Amino acid sequence: MSKLSLDRILQSQGFGSRRWCQELVADGDVTVAGELVTDYRASFETTGLHYTVFGDEWLFRAHVYIALNKPADYECSRKPSHHPGVLSLLPEQFTLRDVQPVGRLDHDTTGMLLMSDDGAFIHAQSSPKRHVPKVYVATTHDAVTPALVAQLLKGVKLHDEPAPLSAIVCKPLGEHQLEIVLEQGKYHQVKRMLAAADNHCSALCRTQIGQLPLALLNLAEGEWCYLSEAELALLSPA
Ligand code: URA
Repeated sequence: MSKLSLDRILQSQGFGSRRWCQELVADGDVTVAGELVTDYRASFETTGLHYTVFGDEWLFRAHVYIALNKPADYECSRKPSHHPGVLSLLPEQFTLRDVQPVGRLDHDTTGMLLMSDDGAFIHAQSSPKRHVPKVYVATTHDAVTPALVAQLLKGVKLHDEPAPLSAIVCKPLGEHQLEIVLEQGKYHQVKRMLAAADNHCSALCRTQIGQLPLALLNLAEGEWCYLSEAELALLSPA
């Protein structure tokens, strides 16, 4: 349990500098638990605190854990160069509280992207030691053959990688579609593995991380949600 003054609460949630947050409160733009509060020095217990800023409702969160259904043509980089950044799909204050993508998807890859401002979570989730499986659906230029599946399961040698990389699961879903499960997250890994097996990835979607399928979250492309404790627990390896 911790009590904080309202200006510090708003600052911690990404609403701007302390001075700016003091002005928001003094200007009458903030309510707490349904009551207008104009004294920014007023302090509140943060756990379970509901408040509004400019009429929008918020719950105090020490950290945020988010899943985004990433559309194509968005970059995961913090300084995007050719396309808008994925942070532009989230409320503005998440940028100020330093929410970052957990790992990266290519600009043309769609599907499940985790985002958080909890450094320990980002680190743990991206650590190769944790072996968190990630499920991708790849559309291939050339038809999927049993030989392709066998090659991806056996392992393919990629430039700059000392050992061959293999899929832990590789399942044809159609003539030009393949489900590939990887435990590593090397740069352009699915696309490079398909290229090394003499095919070409023409579209890629991440459909699951750990035991949490994107479909469970019911997000349209471009939509995001907070992850519940139960959903977070599903992100671990099986
Ligand atoms: N593999 C790729 O090639 N691209 C991605 O975005 C993710 C995995």
